[in-house]
Parts: sequence; structure tokens; C-alpha cells
Amino acid sequence: MDPSRRIIVALDCDNRPAAQAVVEQLGDECRFYKVGLELLTAVGPQFVEYLVGRGNEVFLDLKLFEIPNSVAGAVRAAGALGVSMVTVHSMGGTGILTAAVEAARDYSDLRVLALTVVTSMTDADLVDIGVAGSTESQVLRLAGLAKRAGCHGVTASPHEVASLREVLGGDALIVAPGVVLPGASVNEHARPGTPYAAVADGASHVVVGRAVTRAPDALTAFRRFRANLSAS
Ligand code: C5P
Repeated sequence: MDPSRRIIVALDCDNRPAAQAVVEQLGDECRFYKVGLELLTAVGPQFVEYLVGRGNEVFLDLKLFEIPNSVAGAVRAAGALGVSMVTVHSMGGTGILTAAVEAARDYSDLRVLALTVVTSMTDADLVDIGVAGSTESQVLRLAGLAKRAGCHGVTASPHEVASLREVLGGDALIVAPGVVLPGASVNEHARPGTPYAAVADGASHVVVGRAVTRAPDALTAFRRFRANLSAS
């Protein structure tokens, strides 16, 4: 796959001019954007329509954790916007994962990704919420649940990508946020990895946010990530 198509830039902005400025700086080089709860809530779905309208793919990171009926409705709304990926929390269980997959069937380009364990969480955080075992075992358990429910893939930290590829097989999407360039500040990511390592381990896509969107020159920063990834 063309390296540019593997990099998803997270537009974590609280206003449209800021998000649009990043898109304009990246021009035609970035194909895929992530729109998360901040931008969607602050700016609205019109921004997703703008991205789809200019030919970009959109990962709508809704992180759905609701009753199945509401999850299905949100997935249909995402499909109607023309997005390519939407996320649902696998900790919500088989009912909501299945509802999401069923709802996506009407939209041939829409893929349902299960969120396993957010990359900021550590083993100690899992203990705090009453989950025994390591983040890795929890990620694998939830990925298995998502696979059985028919999800098209998962999002997961770069450190779990290799074992997830084994569990999920070759066709599944594995989208890895929390990637950083070698030597960069890791922000709040508890389990970071480089784009190169994530793709070499089997990630289909990587997500990068602030390291590109808050860089003095977003296009140069994007190109650095693409160069790192291309080395794989
Ligand atoms: O840190 P960065 O700005 O590159 O984050 C990009 C995306 O990765 C965010 O939109 C967020 O959804 C995801 N992320 C995550 N866990 C973190 C930090 C970010 O899943 N600890």
C-alpha cells in the first residue's frame, strides 16, 4: 500500500479554521484524516462532509459505548456522511459490537473498528477499573471478541500490533495511534512506538496527531512520518 494511505492525521482541533488550515497545509499529500469527538462536537459533521467532498478518507473516531440501538444509529449516521472507519468500544460487549457491524452493512465502504484499550492506559489503570491481567492480555481478549462479532479490525497501541496480527489474521485492519518518531516526546502515550515499527509488526494504518498538526510546518512533519514509515 502507498505509505501516504497508511498515515491517518488526527485533526484534534476545537475550531474549523485550525482544522482547515492543517488540511490546506498538507494539500494532496495526506489522504486520510481522523475526526474525533473534539472536532465533531465543536465544528459539526459539516467538516466531515468537507473532507469527504475533497476526496479524503475519514476515520470518524466516535468511540461508541452505548446501548445497541443507539450505537447502530450512530454508525448509520457515520455511513451516511461517507466515512471509511468508525470506532466502537469492545468493552461494551458483543451486543454493541454486533449492532455496529449490522448497521454498517448498508454502507459498503464503512469499516467498523473495535477500540480495545486506549494507549494511555497501563496495567495499573486496568487494576483501578477492576480488570485483572495485563493490558496486552486485555487487548487480545477484546480483539477476539470483536473478531467474533464481525468487526473489520481494531485500534491498538503499536506494542500490541504483532500479537494482534496473529490473532486477527491477515485481512483485519489494525490501526495504531500513539506513534512517535524516534527520540520525540511521547506526550501521554504510555505505550508508544514508531510508524516504522508499527507497520513492520503488521499495522495497516498509523494515526498521528499533534506531532503534525501542532508542528510549525505541518507538511514537513507529515513528510517525516511518511519517510519513517516508508523505511518499512
Ligand atoms: O498524541 P497524538 O496527538 O498523536 O494522538 C493522535 C490520536 O491518537 C488522538 O486523536 C487519540 O485518539 C489517539 N490517542 C490515543 N491514546 C493516547 C493519545 C492519543 O489513543 N494516549
